[in-house]
Amino acid sequence: MECKINFSGRSIRYTEEEIACVVEAMQNAEPLTQGKYMQAFESKFAAFQGVPEGSCFTTINGCAALELSAQLCNFAPGDNIVIPSHTFTASCYPFIKKGAVPVWADIDLDTRVVTAKTLEAAITEKTKAVIVVHLYGYLADMPEIVELCRERNLILIEDAAQAIATSIDGKMAGSFGDMAIFSFHSHKNLTTLGEGGMLYVKDPKLAKLVPMLRHNGHTPYSFPQSEYWKPAMGNVDLPSLDGKILFPNNMCLGEVECALGAKMLDRIDTINAQKRERALAFIDALAEYPELAFHRVDSPRHNYHLLAARMTTGSAARDAFMRKMYYDKGIRCVVQYIPLHRYDFYQKLGFGDAQTPNADAFFDTMVSFPFQHWMSDTDLAYMLASTKEVLESLRG
Ligand SMILES: Cc1ncc(COP(=O)(O)O)c(C=O)c1O
Repeated sequence: MECKINFSGRSIRYTEEEIACVVEAMQNAEPLTQGKYMQAFESKFAAFQGVPEGSCFTTINGCAALELSAQLCNFAPGDNIVIPSHTFTASCYPFIKKGAVPVWADIDLDTRVVTAKTLEAAITEKTKAVIVVHLYGYLADMPEIVELCRERNLILIEDAAQAIATSIDGKMAGSFGDMAIFSFHSHKNLTTLGEGGMLYVKDPKLAKLVPMLRHNGHTPYSFPQSEYWKPAMGNVDLPSLDGKILFPNNMCLGEVECALGAKMLDRIDTINAQKRERALAFIDALAEYPELAFHRVDSPRHNYHLLAARMTTGSAARDAFMRKMYYDKGIRCVVQYIPLHRYDFYQKLGFGDAQTPNADAFFDTMVSFPFQHWMSDTDLAYMLASTKEVLESLRG
């Protein structure tokens, strides 16, 4: 069947200037990884975030940044993390791989993210770290969450994969916690040719480890080399972390992607503002349809990476809506973020128990609309008119 509006995996189209910047890096970068474009992107990103120079590190994707942050937590056997069950799987499994046991926190039904209260309900004496996910592009209540984590002496990690350039009173998503990660995947508001990520590490002692962890453990030799080729290459001698050997990875982002990432920082506020303006117009135009409950935020706290709603009339009505939108109107809405405790994978690992009624209720009734930045006004108007028609037809 013909799909008129697809749920595209691509969020943005590049401008001629951005394409020229990629071509310039393709022609001139030497080497093609770990060079001046990476340094420039990391510096510009740190300045954009309002965090110190030397605290931001590009990675091959957001998942790699999470793997590194999990490694830096240095979990001991029995350590728990508190994490929302309503998130993308990559928010969680890197921590399990490094030995942590996940305890699921619930979300707020209206904002779809965790709160200090829902986190507190899941924290125990075994909790070592808290992972906050700014899902859908909405920045969670970080001032309260920071206070909670400080009181309890917990490591706070922000998964800001979807929330680039959102802020509360000018303070950026991914600048509140001890660590934060960003994704520049194809679907995100800022993408570096499909894959890319960034890790922020607040503690300078831990930050110093990241270049080595990220790039095969390479370190300079601690002694003067008699000849530049002796012994050879770089040393491999990662410092230990509280007595535990750290294993290296190779998670570097290439120079061309870094050049583009730095360039895209000039446009991200405009992209976010345009998405927000369109999202609010769509939401407001559906005000007479309480069957769909959106999350309306008219501030830089939401970048509307995704445009999601909850069907207040229940999950059968949600499925009927999805079916009619697709088969009658050719619009492919999707359902996202199966609560992780409901996946076979997490159940097999023994993490199937959760007290997260809001996460379950939201997932069972949610609809995510196609909402790429490059959607035409015609397509958006068609999606709005179709949504109204389908909702009216379901009223019977
Ligand atoms: C909430 C969340 N966390 C983590 C990731 C992982 O990022 P990446 O796809 O860049 O590895 C994503 C994106 O896919 C995400 O949406």
